[in-house]
Amino acid sequence: MNWTDVIEHTLTTTRLNIKRFGEAFPIVSMGGGKYHLTDHTNWTEGFWSGILWLSYEYSQDPEIHAAAIQATESFHQRMIDGQALDHHDIGFLYSLSAKARWITEQDEASRLLAVEAADMLMKRWRSGPQLFQAWGPEGDEENGGRIIIDCLMNLPLLCWASEQTGDPVYARAARTQAEKSRRFLVRGDDSSYHTFYFDPQTGNALRGGTAQGYQDGSTWTRGQAWGVYGFALAYRSFQEPPYLETSKRMARYFLEHLPADHVAYWDFDAPQEEGTPRDSSASAIVVCGLLELLEHLPENDPDREYFREAVTRSMDSLMNYYFTAGNPSEEGFLRHGSYSVRGNSSPDDFMIWGDYFFLEALLRLERGVPGYWYERG
Ligand code: GLY
Repeated sequence: MNWTDVIEHTLTTTRLNIKRFGEAFPIVSMGGGKYHLTDHTNWTEGFWSGILWLSYEYSQDPEIHAAAIQATESFHQRMIDGQALDHHDIGFLYSLSAKARWITEQDEASRLLAVEAADMLMKRWRSGPQLFQAWGPEGDEENGGRIIIDCLMNLPLLCWASEQTGDPVYARAARTQAEKSRRFLVRGDDSSYHTFYFDPQTGNALRGGTAQGYQDGSTWTRGQAWGVYGFALAYRSFQEPPYLETSKRMARYFLEHLPADHVAYWDFDAPQEEGTPRDSSASAIVVCGLLELLEHLPENDPDREYFREAVTRSMDSLMNYYFTAGNPSEEGFLRHGSYSVRGNSSPDDFMIWGDYFFLEALLRLERGVPGYWYERG
């Protein structure tokens, strides 16, 4: 199968899903090939609208366009209601909905909504410890001074908002968060903590830990993937070499710890035995991260070839062994993702973000369409 065939199969699934999902949003499956549906109550709704915008950009299909607009419109009401927005994942939600529509067809109301989303995200900024609090209310005993590596993917919304408004406050906070993440979440051997705790008053560094990984000191595969992509995007925004270097080092670590079929297990430190869950979504995220990284590496960079080959090997494996290939009884694109193995929550299922990043990777490869993290040149 070439990229075009694979994209056509995803379109078959998406057209069926538009009918199956109606106005609801898929999050993960729980066995049985069917997505569990949500109603603007989670951090994941943007991935479905993102899939619809990517699919529309590729196909120009009016039916998909109508579905993309309907899904994106519902993000206005979510903002008005402030529904499930008291967390840091506003970047995932609004980059792949309102910002996606703005990037795709310059809709002014969507641009304004995306800026409003950046303002909402700024409410998570804690000026004492100088960080974005990922989870929980301000002053929360467990989470008050806690950052998580996933947040790197929320920062592009802030950098974009600074470009749009001319106000540097968003990008300044994003840079401080990126720097803190680089210094404290990434370890000396290029592996990573999922989360890190700081004193919520003083900002003193306390300790690393995990929420979804195997152990506090282990490397949760998807966290490492968020780092690969997130630091490559931080380099695009800030043009500071340590971010490029960190993305490269984390990518090497990820690739050097893969099993033979080149798709990651759920945690690099979990015992690998018969039946250990994979996380295909982590591998799809890393492919996008590598493609972003390759845009910034000079032609004579010694790692270019290695990363290019890794993209091909990962995509070949995802396409040949994980992809559902338009099978009408399966609602997802990629089998064998894991949400939280530790929490026994969808340990071997479809993940809507895995599907989104798989499609983003395909469109980057086939059309040079890079998703909706930054304004296109
Ligand atoms: N950002 C949450 C996750 O990756 O599961």
